[in-house]
Amino acid sequence: MALASEGAGSCLAIRKLHPAIGAEVSNVDFSKPLSPDVAAEIHAAWIAHHVLVFPGQAITDEQHVAVTRHFGEPEIFHMDIIKSKFLKEIFRVSNTDEDGNLVPPSNPIQQQLSSAKKWHTDSSYRPIPAMGSILHGVEVSRTGGLTCFTNMHAVYEALPPEWRAKVDGRKALHDFDKLSRISGAPKQTAEERARVPAIWQPMVRSHPVSGRKSLYISPIYNDDIEGMEEAEATAFIQELAEFAGQDRFVYRHQWETDDVLMWDNRCTMHIVTPHDPMERRVMHRTTIVGEGPVAAA
Ligand code: SIN
Repeated sequence: MALASEGAGSCLAIRKLHPAIGAEVSNVDFSKPLSPDVAAEIHAAWIAHHVLVFPGQAITDEQHVAVTRHFGEPEIFHMDIIKSKFLKEIFRVSNTDEDGNLVPPSNPIQQQLSSAKKWHTDSSYRPIPAMGSILHGVEVSRTGGLTCFTNMHAVYEALPPEWRAKVDGRKALHDFDKLSRISGAPKQTAEERARVPAIWQPMVRSHPVSGRKSLYISPIYNDDIEGMEEAEATAFIQELAEFAGQDRFVYRHQWETDDVLMWDNRCTMHIVTPHDPMERRVMHRTTIVGEGPVAAA
């Protein structure tokens, strides 16, 4: 059978991974240019399943960025750390430096990355948050390090009515600076901070492609909720995160080397499970700039 990247039409093979979220896509090769038809098919599968898993993609960082460009503009991380020094579009979610040395968990950059062990959606602190992200497992963990995704459309639809009444029409504050206040993450310089001031985002958004509503929170960045005392807001965000983390909404991905995952930040949250910090875990991510500010629903 012709590979989908060769532009032979509809030859992607798609297998659902969880009733609520996620599908595996095979018969595509990201080391070759994608035809517009294949990119459109992948896009349609992404909108339908929210998270796509592409196994066996032994790609270079340049090929990773090229695949990303089929879906939008790669985002450049606003801080000087974590970005690859070789390719600024690559965000290194890794516990090694670029000379290949393991970095201890006490290192401030590792402290920042370890915030991914709590539920979040990428770049929600930006006025135009990320549309999606594409993560390549370069060296994967055998001691944990699963990436788990929750379907925030399904979460919103399942909220108890009294919680739904509390989120409808409300805004939550998303502040990147929270990371350094609650952990040993590096403090942003004044210039970096000025690029991403705290921002109020609607707690319920409408998906720009499907129009479906979802709960929009990002607990690692959420500092406050409109019209609530700080303690009440913190407790409510925590309750919402626990609700969203139920198995019925969540796909847990056990990585194999060269898996590539592509997720929709507009209707999912993700989290990484703990792993032995002395085991190398090298993951390269691109992030896709959103199409506009979050549309309240
Ligand atoms: C991320 O939060 O983007 C990274 C997830 C992971 O390390 O698996």
